[in-house]
Amino acid sequence: MKTNIITLAHQKGGTGKSTMAWNLAVEMGKKYKKYGYKKFIFVDLDNQESVTMTNRLRMQYGQDPLEIVRFTDDERNKLEDFINSIDDDTLVIIDSGGYDADLNRLAIIASDFVITPVSSDYMEIFGLQKFKTILEELSEIKKETVRVNVVLNKIDPKLKDFSDIVDFINEIEHFKLCDTVIRFRSDYKHSIGYGFSVRELDKKSKASEEISILIKEIEKKAGLKNGKKKK
Ligand SMILES: Nc1ncnc2c1ncn2[C@@H]1O[C@H](COP(=O)(O)OP(=O)(O)O)[C@@H](O)[C@H]1O
Ligand SMILES: [Mg+2]
Repeated sequence: MKTNIITLAHQKGGTGKSTMAWNLAVEMGKKYKKYGYKKFIFVDLDNQESVTMTNRLRMQYGQDPLEIVRFTDDERNKLEDFINSIDDDTLVIIDSGGYDADLNRLAIIASDFVITPVSSDYMEIFGLQKFKTILEELSEIKKETVRVNVVLNKIDPKLKDFSDIVDFINEIEHFKLCDTVIRFRSDYKHSIGYGFSVRELDKKSKASEEISILIKEIEKKAGLKNGKKKK
């Protein structure tokens, strides 16, 4: 199966979905032709409109904006029509909202690759427990096990042991832990203020290095390099 839809999803807010979605979209949006796609579209389902607003700043600072389509919570049918219209030549990245809603559930079900950022504090386990029950319900609807790729995000740069959360993630069949660990870096906040990705702010920063490693991992796991197909 070819990857056409990549979604950032987690019903818990503040885990870094929009920030990660933005950075992935800006950088992967520069490479979609290399991956073998003809079109790249960003879909903003987050009612906070974080990415849409960042894109406006991007325009104000003279950079080429992303092509963004927005759907509001009452536009589930419109989103469904849009998803059905996505052809094999199009790559879509979706940022979903940090709450449980029909729109976000639909995005998860329709996705070829789901990314779930979580941080390392213990409260995150409660958030993932709730997400697990949502994924169980979606698996029943889809009649296959829905799996998401969990990325540790906002991790204290000094923290070495996050085995509590890693052990929890590894126990649940709906979660696959990514190798890349994204640390807490102030560059995320600074770059968003200009509508930049962290790589555009400073290509040599630690944040940039980590995002580049994450993109490589996604390319490999979603089968994106050279337009190669992978299930
Ligand atoms: N890796 C990171 N390092 C530092 N701050 C981050 C990181 N990822 C996200 N943030 C910050 O965390 C907050 C929540 O991020 P956001 O992307 O809005 O989360 P969500 O979309 O999941 O609600 C924002 O203030 C954002 O700047
Ligand atoms: Mg968000």
